[in-house]
Amino acid sequence: MTLQTDVFGEWTAEVLAVRSGRWQPERDRAFWQEKAAHYDAGQPPLPNTVAWLRERLTGAASLLDVGAGTGRLTLPLAGAVGRVTALDHSPDMLAVLRAKGPPAYLHLRQQELADALQDPTLPPHDAVLSAWSLAYLPDLRGALTGLLRLARRDLFLLEDDGVGSPHVTLRRQLAGQPRPTRASSLRRALHALGAEPEHLQIPEERELTFPDTAALLAQARLPLGAAEALAFLRPHLTPEGEGWRYRWTFDVHALHVPLGTRP
Ligand SMILES: C[S@@+](CC[C@H](N)C(=O)[O-])C[C@H]1O[C@@H](n2cnc3c(N)ncnc32)[C@H](O)[C@@H]1O
Repeated sequence: MTLQTDVFGEWTAEVLAVRSGRWQPERDRAFWQEKAAHYDAGQPPLPNTVAWLRERLTGAASLLDVGAGTGRLTLPLAGAVGRVTALDHSPDMLAVLRAKGPPAYLHLRQQELADALQDPTLPPHDAVLSAWSLAYLPDLRGALTGLLRLARRDLFLLEDDGVGSPHVTLRRQLAGQPRPTRASSLRRALHALGAEPEHLQIPEERELTFPDTAALLAQARLPLGAAEALAFLRPHLTPEGEGWRYRWTFDVHALHVPLGTRP
């Protein structure tokens, strides 16, 4: 007998257990109000992921980016399609996108995803993308069912499995915290809905520079002595003047559900 776990129930329980309460849309919007201005500076570039998506978007006439944020992916992808909708519930994240001067065929839509999925004025698009935007939605079944309905040709979900950076991974291990497995959960959820996603791990690189060892250790916040922490980080470090260049690779998990036929 195989034991079927309820991925949707597990997801809801995890989302509701988050102390910040960001499953409440007003809390999430307040979070992004604080972060919006600095979001881009704290994010790694994703050249390989963008190239992969651009290739998959060939021939698509429209793209809906759900939780588009500051347009980190929307803008580099916009040139690949003729019509783009950037949907986000945070006015502050969309204000950053707007300030970048998006092309006229990129339509900004400030709306809660749950409302958008019930809104007949939001038409289906050839491709729908959700990149790191489902994490605090309690109703994953409703969200994915709605996104599958809105996607005429392709649905793309991007997420992490695990946290990526060596220092945060070690910090979690030492604290006995389990590795986050959101990408795996999304894959199981799509499978439960009868969709068979292609699952790719796209390698990307992250690099931070620090003027000195103290600044590096302050960022890493490892519960170890300075020498031990430095020894752990050393394989990822290159000396630079008095300081360090800290580089690591991580995987973006891309789930692609092909729907309908391609031209
Ligand atoms: C982690 S950011 C990712 C932004 C962008 N996709 C990227 O990869 O840079 C998550 C974005 O999703 C938006 N978001 C989260 N929950 C949402 C919801 N229920 N409805 C609409 N937007 C939502 C947030 O406002 C935020 O801009």
